Amino acid sequence: MSAPRKLFVKTYGCQMNVYDSERMSEALGGQGYVTTDRAEDADMILLNTCHIREKAAEKVYSELGRLRPLKDANPDLKIGVTGCVAQAEGEEIMRRAPVVDLVVGPQSYHRLPAMEDAVRKGGRALDTDFPLDDKFDTLKSRPKARRAPSAFLTVQEGCDKFCAFCVVPYTRGAEVSRPADRVLREARELVEAGVAELTLLGQNVNAYHGHPGGLAGLIWELNEIEGLERIRFTTSHPNDMDDALIEAHGSCPKLMPYLHLPVQSGSDRILKAMNRKHTADGYIRLIERIRAARPDILLSGDFIVGFPGETEADFEATMNLIRTVEYGQAYSFKYSTRPGTPAAEKPQLPEDVMNDRLQRLQTLLTEQQQRLQAAMVGREVGVLFEKPGRIEGQMIGKSDHLHAVFAEAPASVRGQVRRVRIVEAGPNSLKGIVLN
Ligand code: SAH
Ligand code: SF4
Ligand code: F3S
Repeated sequence: MSAPRKLFVKTYGCQMNVYDSERMSEALGGQGYVTTDRAEDADMILLNTCHIREKAAEKVYSELGRLRPLKDANPDLKIGVTGCVAQAEGEEIMRRAPVVDLVVGPQSYHRLPAMEDAVRKGGRALDTDFPLDDKFDTLKSRPKARRAPSAFLTVQEGCDKFCAFCVVPYTRGAEVSRPADRVLREARELVEAGVAELTLLGQNVNAYHGHPGGLAGLIWELNEIEGLERIRFTTSHPNDMDDALIEAHGSCPKLMPYLHLPVQSGSDRILKAMNRKHTADGYIRLIERIRAARPDILLSGDFIVGFPGETEADFEATMNLIRTVEYGQAYSFKYSTRPGTPAAEKPQLPEDVMNDRLQRLQTLLTEQQQRLQAAMVGREVGVLFEKPGRIEGQMIGKSDHLHAVFAEAPASVRGQVRRVRIVEAGPNSLKGIVLN
């Protein structure tokens, strides 16, 4: 038998792309590929791309430029572009970048093996359909190989919300949920392979309807899987936080006290222009209900500054919302114009105004983040240990609240959840003592 071909995958964007990259690697495993982390050794390179902000697409074209010499050196090397830029600009990529052999959108990657055959025969292949056959059905079971303690599992894809700034509804298509029995089967396969923590993924994961009880119903079933220690989910939309899910945060033992719930802005005028379909006050009241169910929950959010028409007063309203909520984690972005979205038609704010607001916002968020992290000192939390620390004898893991924690512990704690007392807070991590 000939030596296996080597596959190099570079992943941009969100966790859904991380999950997709794994599944694409597995699909090409059936074509005789093994993965490599060196692009120079590869027979196939896939760039799994993100289209969310302007710079993201530009990065892809410059990366393709950097790959050209590899192709000159190895004429058998095949280069593919996958993910959201592939979906949005597939034909343009084919035109603009002759080094590209293959373009496949996020909904079609189960067709990769057939496309790989075609490009090996010397052709080029483009597939950016939203096919009716379910890619997850067509893909095989997850391989039995030993896995890291924490894994992603996509349960929902696509978005029907059409926020005025966002490309996701166009690149990922309409909301689709995977049936619960398939998700549960994959979850069991992952647990058998050593996974102790699952993060359920979806662009609007709490709009999941593959189970009669919605996302909460699915979480309660996952809670029954022996060997699975922790359940998380991301990203959720405020309008899809139903009572059952809020209640699960209070009572489901394996559901972790952490919630990423993006709000984008604290100004009702801007929220309306963004087509978010909720108010700042509605969001704050929702947070109050979630905290009533689970008082120690750590909240995370996404914010956009400089949306077209945002005044200083609108921006202050966002700052006030942040002061009211108090976030333990947050992601914030300058508004980026995305062609084809409704907001792209509106006049843009000057760059220096956006830079200034982003800086003020991030200063406030960092302050909160560090304060809440420091408040963990003295508390006892669960930590899932994942890997050795930098110092001999230390192990690193994630707390229930998703803080990075290091502690003196034997390597054998890897993959286990241990009780840990937090004794010190640094800027990016906590130090703890293992209690059991
Ligand atoms: N479905 C998720 C994730 C969407 S993308 C959600 O609704 O939260 C992740 C984040 O990127 C968004 O929450 C938003 O804050 C940011 N984002 C999306 N489009 C953007 C744009 N055009 N400019 C700047 N940030 C954007
Ligand atoms: Fe984009 Fe809004 Fe959908 Fe999130 S909810 S993916 S921000 S359109
Ligand atoms: Fe980017 Fe697509 Fe995810 S645009 S953020 S990779 S859904």
